[in-house]
Amino acid sequence: MTTKFNFNGEISDELSISVMDHGFLFGDSIYEVVSTFKNEPCFLDKHLDRLHNSAQAISLKIPRDREWFREQLQKTLIAAGNKESYIRILVTRGVGEMNIDPSSCEHPAIILIVMDVTEYSKSCYEKGIRVALVSIKRNPRDALNPNIKTGNYLNNVLAKIEADKLGAQDAVMVNPWGYLTEGTTSNLFFVCDGHIMTPSMNCGILSGITREMVIQLAKENGFHIEEGKWPGEELLKADEIFLTGTLKKVMPVSHLDGRPVGSGKPGPITLKLLRLYDDLLTKRA
Ligand code: PDD
Repeated sequence: MTTKFNFNGEISDELSISVMDHGFLFGDSIYEVVSTFKNEPCFLDKHLDRLHNSAQAISLKIPRDREWFREQLQKTLIAAGNKESYIRILVTRGVGEMNIDPSSCEHPAIILIVMDVTEYSKSCYEKGIRVALVSIKRNPRDALNPNIKTGNYLNNVLAKIEADKLGAQDAVMVNPWGYLTEGTTSNLFFVCDGHIMTPSMNCGILSGITREMVIQLAKENGFHIEEGKWPGEELLKADEIFLTGTLKKVMPVSHLDGRPVGSGKPGPITLKLLRLYDDLLTKRA
């Protein structure tokens, strides 16, 4: 159970950063969470693509190329020596003056964190998790586009706090116009009459890598899948609901707002997609 930090290429057991880093002061940073299979990063190219897109969207110039990230990640994974790892890649605006203007930050900080992974329990996958449709709205795209994976996660933190108060393990948010978006750290799918539905990008969501894989798997396996826009109430009619994400993989939802979803047990389409996704991770190795 080792945690290793890599700060601009230097590996250590502990890491402190300056409180004058704008990542700390203003959430002015971007990040990725990557999982491993046999301690090799999964879908690393896609995560690095998204990191670079996020950087571009906040006008942050990452001073290193992809090869550097790959090499440093490999070194840090070896130094940590875990069976499987949780990887967090962060790029902060860097140290600057005590004001919001990013122009005083000359050197972005690149931080890699590699730690032992805490997976969701087997019982979550067998029984499903409880979610709540919360009142906190997902940020609109023209305010802070949810498709930028920034270190500014307060929108999601507030949704999670509300879900906790409602006795749920996670939250689903709608956008300011009442259309379904996503979970706090996951994308949303639901099934009605055998059809799979997932909010489209223009509802204001993160383009999840697991989401993309699940859509592809669903299509390849003959499911009817639709990306679109649905009001929050639509979720109450669902026979199955599941969330997707790097850590959750394909996570069945058993209860919505305290009421069972379908039979209250993970549904057949959810379980099939979970199996297909697990197979995909295994095959890649
Ligand atoms: N979160 N939506 C949000 C808001 C997310 O934060 C995440 C991922 C996803 C799913 O994306 P992906 O399938 O690429 O992991 C969707 C990571 C796991 C996190 O912040 O911990």
